[in-house]
Amino acid sequence: MHCFILENPEKTDTFGATLAQSIHQLESLVHESGLNIRLNGDLGAGKTATTRAMLRALGVDGRIKSPTFTLLETYPIDNDLEVFHYDFYRFETPEEFLDAGFRDDFAPGHITMVEWSEKAEPCLPEADLILTLRVEGAGRTVTLEPQSALGTTLTEEIAARWTSLAAN
Ligand SMILES: Nc1ncnc2c1ncn2[C@@H]1O[C@H](COP(=O)(O)OP(=O)(O)O)[C@@H](O)[C@H]1O
Ligand SMILES: [Mg+2]
Repeated sequence: MHCFILENPEKTDTFGATLAQSIHQLESLVHESGLNIRLNGDLGAGKTATTRAMLRALGVDGRIKSPTFTLLETYPIDNDLEVFHYDFYRFETPEEFLDAGFRDDFAPGHITMVEWSEKAEPCLPEADLILTLRVEGAGRTVTLEPQSALGTTLTEEIAARWTSLAAN
C-alpha cells in the first residue's frame, strides 16, 4: 500500500498525469484484460479531479464533465483504448448497475474509473486498484491499494514515477 500527499490541486493534477503515464506504459496489459479503478472518498475529496487530470494527460480535449447526473461519461483515447467514468452516487439499489447494462463495459481495452462504487456493490466486477482520497488540512492524500496482479504492477509503476518526481 502506498500513500501520497497532494498538498494542493496542482499535485492532484500531477498525480492524475502520473496515473496516465503509468497506464500508457502498461498499455498492452490493459488491452488484454482491461483496467478497473475505484475512486473512494467523501464528496469533494478529489475523485473527479483525479480522473479529469488523468483524462487530460491521456489526450482528452474539451470539457470533461462529472458523471454525477449522467452516471457515465465515455472517452475514446489513443490506440483503441476507452475510458468509462462512472458516478453511482444516485443509485438506489446495486441492481441498477446491471439494469443499465454497465457490466458489459468491464472488458479488455476498457479503463473503468468508478466513483461511489459502494452503491453498486455487490454487482460491480472486481477492481484492479482502489484509490482512496482524503481531505488532509488544506490538501488531500491518496492511498493506493492494488487488488490484482495488474493493479500491483500499475501501483509499482506509479510509485516509481512519483518518487522520481519528488527527487527532482
Ligand atoms: N490536492 C488538493 N488540495 C486541495 N484541494 C484540492 C486538491 N485536489 C483537488 N482539490 C479540490 O477539491 C475539489 C474536489 O472536487 P471533486 O473532484 O469534484 O470531488 P469528488 O469527485 O471527490 O466529489 C475541487 O474543488 C478541487 O479543486
Ligand atoms: Mg465526483
